[in-house]
Amino acid sequence: MIRAWFLQPRFGLMPIFHPISQQAHAISELFAFVLVLSAVVFAGIVGALIYIMWRFRRGRDGSGAEPRPVFGHSRIEILWTAIPIGIVGVLFVLTLVAMRASDPDAPADRAPDITVVGHQWWWEIRYPAAGVVTANDLHIPVGRKQLVELQSADVIHDFWVPRLGRKLDMVPGRHARLWLAADSAGTYFGACAEYCGNEHAWMQIRVTAESPATFASWLAAQARPAPALGGPSDSGPALGAQLFSRLTCVNCHAVRGTSDTATVGPDLTHVASRPSLAAGRLVNTPENLRRWMAEPDLIKPGSYMPNLHLSDQDLDHIVAYLLTLR
Ligand code: CUA
Repeated sequence: MIRAWFLQPRFGLMPIFHPISQQAHAISELFAFVLVLSAVVFAGIVGALIYIMWRFRRGRDGSGAEPRPVFGHSRIEILWTAIPIGIVGVLFVLTLVAMRASDPDAPADRAPDITVVGHQWWWEIRYPAAGVVTANDLHIPVGRKQLVELQSADVIHDFWVPRLGRKLDMVPGRHARLWLAADSAGTYFGACAEYCGNEHAWMQIRVTAESPATFASWLAAQARPAPALGGPSDSGPALGAQLFSRLTCVNCHAVRGTSDTATVGPDLTHVASRPSLAAGRLVNTPENLRRWMAEPDLIKPGSYMPNLHLSDQDLDHIVAYLLTLR
């Protein structure tokens, strides 16, 4: 509808104008319509104001007197009452249509395909049927609507991936559901859209829409338990695994296939396969993984990842261990 040059995707601006699903389309069209309508109303009011100031200026008739005021002009009064009511009526109907299109019904007894749980400040992502748990890195098959259940573990968060669909609050104690779909493959970014504390800005989610076959193999890989550690028991990864269990890492993080099953922090079974760390704060590289453990309070102030004040050597070992979790 609106395709101005500055809204083209190459400028990376305004993802709402580049919807990738039917649901997002409905929202985008309504937004564009309201934007244009607002511009027309704005131009009309400013234009009328300028015209009236010029037309009824003092001394226009040469007498130097103020123009005679107009009282009780029923035609103008009916007009300026009817036009806004008409506009509100049109917006009301269009909004109802967009709401239906962006939030299609889901059968009450249908199990969700994906569960997303908002935490301060990261996203827990579960694929219940496959037994997969991951974080901040959501994958969906192209062209297949996924029913997503939204929950919160602490405060109110809000799930929003603008190119894929509506935004929806995640309220503690409640389960909300939305359809998530992508009509073409790609990576779509989203973020928490409800202020939820210090690191609200670094609560980002990344959605990868890929072919159903690629999605299936990703899911199968994520469903596997952590690979068994081969090699000598004094190798870096083995020492790292011992430290991971001995220190307090295991109080928060699970690694499926080991005895570590805590669910306070992100599941780390395949952490090395994820593109980012700390909900989009860092690109997932060995150096950043090390930095994140060495100074979490500098990288994401206020986050619940504690600084364990590990020695350089311990950091090396734990990083070596985490890198085996692909
Ligand atoms: Cu979570 Cu803002």
